Amino acid sequence: MDMTTNLTLRSGNRMPIMGLGTYGLDDQTADTVEAALKMGWRMFDTSGDYDTQPGIGQGLKQSGLERGRYFITTKVEEDDDAYEAVMNNLKELDLDFVDLVLIHRPPPDGAGEDLWHGLIQAKLDRLTRDIGVSNYNTEQIGQLIEATGEVPAVNQIEWTPFGYSQQMLQFCREHSIIIQAYSPLTRGKRLDSPVLKTIAQRYGKTPAQVLLRWNVQMGTVPLPKANQLQHLEENADIFDFRLNREEMERLNGLNEYYSSWSVLPYIEQLATR
Ligand SMILES: NC(=O)c1ccc[n+]([C@@H]2O[C@H](COP(=O)([O-])OP(=O)(O)OC[C@H]3O[C@@H](n4cnc5c(N)ncnc54)[C@H](OP(=O)(O)O)[C@@H]3O)[C@@H](O)[C@H]2O)c1
Repeated sequence: MDMTTNLTLRSGNRMPIMGLGTYGLDDQTADTVEAALKMGWRMFDTSGDYDTQPGIGQGLKQSGLERGRYFITTKVEEDDDAYEAVMNNLKELDLDFVDLVLIHRPPPDGAGEDLWHGLIQAKLDRLTRDIGVSNYNTEQIGQLIEATGEVPAVNQIEWTPFGYSQQMLQFCREHSIIIQAYSPLTRGKRLDSPVLKTIAQRYGKTPAQVLLRWNVQMGTVPLPKANQLQHLEENADIFDFRLNREEMERLNGLNEYYSSWSVLPYIEQLATR
């Protein structure tokens, strides 16, 4: 297993087991993406509102890698015309198609059925290979499926040992939906956890590497963001150790539905049951 290892989406298409988050990448985005590709990173997560799409497109070109060797995820906003937004994103990325488009978050009313119809059309027109959602709870995903018969390939949500949901994991497994984990490093806020530090020391690793490894072993797909090359290298270096069952259980036991933002948007309905 390494950075180029893939897992299979419900469509049969393949997706890398870890990707680089790009929210907050600075004006060096193109060079960061090029450097990341050289280190073996193969998936990049962006959105129309991250301002990183032109830099990503440039970095991909600078790398000279063929289109089939990297995986690009982008997103549409809740008040967008989804189809048009996909076209705009492709223009900014300077690509003919992306690998995955997500509804960034559910709109205030309903589950975003209109957005979903737009993404289904974008997929039919081969502007994207797969479609999915972000920040959705299980009920909202159910509504999209009921309205269209189309099951999201992915739900991208905040996901760390400090904040996750067994019920969501179970639901996604039952529907063959892959969970992508955003803010998998707690945006740096929980890296001093004694449990993380103790486990990290056993393997000569860092708390950040333990967090990423926890995700990969759970079958969820972390999207750590890193501007610093040293962080990019460190985050890629998680394939030479394995957390044992006791360590995974200890990490699982840290769950307090924590969010580094405010609340986990998918959790309310589950946590109060
Ligand atoms: N769908 C959504 O609604 C949504 C919401 C939030 C995020 N996301 C996606 O998820 C990605 C990641 O989430 P995030 O950026 O919020 O947070 P994150 O990945 O948890 O944390 C990023 C922070 O951690 C630092 N860092 C990276 N590697 C480190 C290491 N090995 N040791 C110590 N610190 C390290 C980074 O520093 P440097 O940058 O200085 O290297 C940066 O300050 C985003 O970029 C975005 O693509 C999606």
